[in-house]
Order: sequence, then structure tokens, then C-alpha cells
Amino acid sequence: MQYLISKKMIFQNWITWDKRDGLGASKRKYSIGQETILFFTKSNKHIFNYEDIRVPYESTERIRHAGKKGIIKNGKRWFPNPNGRFCGEVWHISSERHKNKINGKIIKLGHETPKPLDMIERIIKASSNPDNLVLDCFVGTGTTALAAKKLKRNFICSDMNKNYVYLAKEKLKAIDKYGHTKEYTLNNFKNNEFLNSLRQNEFC
Ligand SMILES: C[S@@+](CC[C@H](N)C(=O)[O-])C[C@H]1O[C@@H](n2cnc3c(N)ncnc32)[C@H](O)[C@@H]1O
Repeated sequence: MQYLISKKMIFQNWITWDKRDGLGASKRKYSIGQETILFFTKSNKHIFNYEDIRVPYESTERIRHAGKKGIIKNGKRWFPNPNGRFCGEVWHISSERHKNKINGKIIKLGHETPKPLDMIERIIKASSNPDNLVLDCFVGTGTTALAAKKLKRNFICSDMNKNYVYLAKEKLKAIDKYGHTKEYTLNNFKNNEFLNSLRQNEFC
């Protein structure tokens, strides 16, 4: 953080991603299940599309009641927004690892830490508009590229691992062919040679 601040970047939020996943259970400390996302901007005139990233209200009973008759707040009658509340700094989004379990067994996806598509979509929706350019130099399995394409943003993505770049390109091709209905698990990709190479290299 100090480094970014020294470069005159402006700190906006410390986001906690609750991965809904019980990683590293320990009897000596709390289980690890979160990661941090730091939101910095270059100026205070940045894009922040808060309306596009509303999330469901939590106290459903109160909101149901408010939806019918409203609630008096600061002397005014308040009605809940049908699109939900403003998005906070704690994001409860299941990790890909957590989502891809069959009979309780984790299905490996060719990468240790692919990020959830819905999480990357939230970031892109909030911080850019259609036709803007999104850059991700650590694209791994291609999540940012997929999300950017879906949301009609341009993108430049790279990764030091050429296998991941290949995987990301294959996924992008799959979108062109099938749209966003396809599951992006490795077994949906036909290039067995590629899959074998990932397996030999213990990527999956
Ligand atoms: C946490 S993963 C990114 C996961 C990605 N967001 C996804 O959803 O699949 C980080 C990626 O950064 C890449 N990486 C690490 N150091 C790098 C570097 N110096 N230059 C380019 N890529 C790098 C790794 O190969 C890895 O795929």
C-alpha cells in the first residue's frame, strides 16, 4: 500500500473477498477463507458505476415490509431499491474451487487460483464503461478476458505461463462458438495434447 501511495495513487477501498471456502482448517487459529483486493485510482474523477453493482439486501423481512409500505428514515418514507443495496467492501462470492466440487471432491481446473467470473465482472462493471480498455497482466485462466468480452469492453491480457495464455484463448474461442452458456472447465476443451501437457506439469 505504501508503494502505491508513494506513486500518488489514491486509496479507495480495502475489499475483503469471503471465498466461502474452508481452506487450511486449524485448531490453533481461525480458518483462512478470505483474500484482499485493494481498490486504488489515479485520480478522484474515476469511473464508479455503483448502480451497476448493487447486491441483494440482507434483512429480507424488513425489506419485504419496507417494500409494501416504506420505512420512515430521517423524516422521509424510504422504499428499497428493486435492484438491491449499494455494494459494500465485503464480498461473499464462492471461489471456483468451492463451486467445482462433485460429490464433495474438488475438480481441478488447470490453475490453482482462478478467480470467480462474477467477481471479476463486478470489478469491470464498476470501474469501466463499454468500449473502455481493461488490462490484466496476470490473466491466468483468462477470467478477466472472458468477463471483459461479455461486458463489451476491450482488453489486453498476458501471463508468464504460455499454457495459461493458450487456455485463455481457447476459452475465448469457445465464447465465440457457444456464447457464455458453456462451462469453462478443462474437460470441455478438446485439445487432449494440451490437457496432457497441463497434467504432466501438474497444472491439473
Ligand atoms: C492468481 S493467478 C491469476 C488468476 C486469474 N485471475 C484467473 O482468474 O485465472 C496469477 C497469475 O500471474 C501469473 N504471473 C505471476 N508472475 C507473473 C509475472 N511476473 N509476469 C506475468 N505473469 C505472472 C501466473 O502465471 C498466474 O497465472
